[in-house]
Formats: sequence, structure tokens, C-alpha cells
Amino acid sequence: MRQQIVAGNWKMNKILEEGLELTRAILEKVEKPSGLVVIAPPYPYLRELGKMLKVRKHFHLAAQNCHQEEKGAYTGEVSADMLASVGCEFVIIGHSERRQYFKEKNEVLAAKVNVTLARGMRPIFCCGEPLHIREVDTHVGYVAKQLKASLFHLKEEDFKKVVIAYEPIWAIGTGRTATSLQAQEMHHAIRVLVAKKYGKIVADATPILYGGSCNAQNAADLFSQPDVDGGLIGGASLKAEDFAAIVAAMKK
Ligand code: PGA
Repeated sequence: MRQQIVAGNWKMNKILEEGLELTRAILEKVEKPSGLVVIAPPYPYLRELGKMLKVRKHFHLAAQNCHQEEKGAYTGEVSADMLASVGCEFVIIGHSERRQYFKEKNEVLAAKVNVTLARGMRPIFCCGEPLHIREVDTHVGYVAKQLKASLFHLKEEDFKKVVIAYEPIWAIGTGRTATSLQAQEMHHAIRVLVAKKYGKIVADATPILYGGSCNAQNAADLFSQPDVDGGLIGGASLKAEDFAAIVAAMKK
């Protein structure tokens, strides 16, 4: 079976003490996950949380973003090198909030993917369409463009480290989840695109996560779809009980 992954993206939530408490509670509630559990806290707590996660099998640390340049005069930014040096193994790249509020375009995201891989970390690359695209039924083409522009320049050996997260923008933080069939249709379409570029073996091994109002109630249904390999979780990753239930919903 493909690698299954549940990743929690805390976004800009929780102060340090709350983050540590949440992590303790998650570690307590999750016993033997059937896949990888990834936690993406805000930058200032990466190191401390990383130490807590490191001692537990299957738990991994992620950053929510990184800068595309290696280093230099970019006040307020954080490089891939820095993230790797505090123990990050994954970096979320191209989240729709970064695309929307920080105007990150496909080309910049391709550069972020490159620096992440160059530092030995795995990108969790987010793609997904806004509502008006879904309504005119051009979502597959829209997502295909995102993948081609930011991922398909990679050599096969690098692409193999990529995790894709399909997150329809109309479902993020809205309580409006894609149905499991909508998710499966899109995940399958993504896998076909990957197969066309890198071949079936690589496509079959690429984890494709679903994100967008995934919660303790709907996770099992979404994850039961053949091409859904886990989830990227926002709101529901902020409550240990809910997050643990989502982790437990991973395919066995
Ligand atoms: P949500 O966010 O689970 O709160 O919808 C998902 C995400 O943005 O990754």
C-alpha cells in the first residue's frame, strides 16, 4: 500500500504553551498510527516540538512555508536551510492562503519546491481550484496547470519525495467538504497526470492527501477512497481528540 499521511497545519494559531499542550495530548492519544503523522506548527515552536516528536516513531515535523532564496537580505523570512537545521522533514508549499494573501505564484512555488528538496526535506505541495472554476467544470485543467508549473520540472528521483495535497479552496475552513466522490475523482485525475509525466510506478507511489474541512466525522469516508492517501488538516488539527480520530481513520 502507498504511504498514508495525516498532516496537521496549525496555521497562525496557538501560543507556545498551548502548542506544547496540544502536542502532548496528541502524542498521548495516538498510539500506533498506520501511516505518518506530520505536525506543522508556527515557526517559533518548530525546534521545541520537533524534539517531542522525534522520540516517537511515525511522527514528523513540518514547516508551513519557506523562502525560495537560499539566504541573504530578506528581513523576516526563513530559509529551507534553517528549517532543516531545526529538524523539519516536510515543508507545506503553495497553500491557497499563501497563494491568495501573499500572492505566491506558480513560479515562486517551483523555486520553493527546489530549495526544500535541495535541503533534504519533502514538499507537501498544495493545489486546488476556487469555487468559480469548479462551477464551470474546469477544475482538472486548473490543477493540472498548477502541477505542471511548480512540480513537473523535477527529475524523477526528486519527484518521488513529493507529497501532493489536493485542497479545493471552496472547502477550506468553510465547513463545506468535497464529497468523497469529488475527492476521489480529482485525486484520480491527479494520479493520471503524474503517470503521464513520470510513469505509472511513480504515480502509484505518490501520496495524494485531501484537505478542506476534513474532520473526525468525515475522515474515514474520504480516506476510504482508493486514491485518497490521508489528509492535510487545518481546523480539526487544533483539537487533540479530533486530530487523533482523523489519524485513526487512515487506511490500515
Ligand atoms: P481546514 O483547512 O481543515 O480548516 O479546512 C485545511 C487546510 O487549509 O489545509
